[in-house]
Amino acid sequence: MNERDLDVHRSEEAITTALRADVREGLRATQKWLPSKWFYDASGSELFERITAVPEYYPTRAEREVLERESPAIAVTTAAHTLVELGSGSSEKTRLLLDALTEHGALRTFVPLDVSETALTEAAQAIATAYPRLEVRGVVGDFTEHLDLLPGTPPRLVAFLGGTIGNFLPAERAKFLRSVRDVLQEGEWLLLGTDLVKDQDRLVRAYDDAAGVTAEFNRNVLRVVNERLGADFRPERFDHVSYWDADNEWIEMRLRASADMRVRIPGADLEVDFAEGEHIRTEISAKFRPEGVAAELADAGFALREWWTDRAGQFGVSLSQSVRMIE
Ligand code: SAH
Ligand code: AVI
Repeated sequence: MNERDLDVHRSEEAITTALRADVREGLRATQKWLPSKWFYDASGSELFERITAVPEYYPTRAEREVLERESPAIAVTTAAHTLVELGSGSSEKTRLLLDALTEHGALRTFVPLDVSETALTEAAQAIATAYPRLEVRGVVGDFTEHLDLLPGTPPRLVAFLGGTIGNFLPAERAKFLRSVRDVLQEGEWLLLGTDLVKDQDRLVRAYDDAAGVTAEFNRNVLRVVNERLGADFRPERFDHVSYWDADNEWIEMRLRASADMRVRIPGADLEVDFAEGEHIRTEISAKFRPEGVAAELADAGFALREWWTDRAGQFGVSLSQSVRMIE
């Protein structure tokens, strides 16, 4: 893979401008919040990879189990010429799909897309080396903005794995699924990973591992704001919180101020006061029920073709096909 195989849709300046706007909106709100995409600079992506290996964080292993079992069937059913992966990260599990899709004989192009330039570049290079006959076209971009710029010929299979769909709020999720549907032709495919509702303790622990990796991942958003906007957050003064919101059926990650403090954020032209115990919501991670996934897919213009879970029923993977919508 060389440079011409990497499309970068985000300049450094545009990233800083977007972060400034998000910080001004989120940290001036009564209930402070920051969008979870800001976790993922080089260290954040590395911390996420470490999370996937901690014993409490089951989603990666559960989804891998499904992909190990079902990738050959996915390859036969979709006969995809292009695999697009949104929020691809390390694309580690994706190799199971790539193996099956190349063995089946139809796959020509792999298009991983991620906001994290380091994670994307490393993964795209490793995959280009491991699959020399595949065209790898990495895209550094935002999956809420850059879907219309994706390369590759139909039939395409769009994979959105890891349960990242759960990191959207419900209205954003509906908009996102619609936008994926809008770039697909009728009959093209979506492979979607969704973490499932389960016992509260297990969920809370998955987001609060004993080794403290998730806590560091959570605090990383403050380091990103420090680096990009010259802020003086002291991340160690914020406690990591994993909270199950039973009404909304989502996990919230929060950062709770351990004392009263004032934080200066010159790059956002802002000073923010925190009272002891006040928190910033840094992520939601929605958990799903099978009937809910089917309904949301149908609303967005997808027909569910397959639904699989791991043997323990922790994580769901759906394969659906875009259909003509009667508006
Ligand atoms: N798909 C991988 C990684 C999941 S972590 C897996 O299943 O293990 C979520 C990934 O989505 C990260 O790599 C992060 O950088 C990326 N991401 C988060 N928000 C994004 C956005 N708005 N646009 C593009 N990528 C995003
Ligand atoms: C990327 N996303 C699906 C992860 C999740 O489970 O919501 C991010 C994560 N946050 C804490 N641990 C992992």
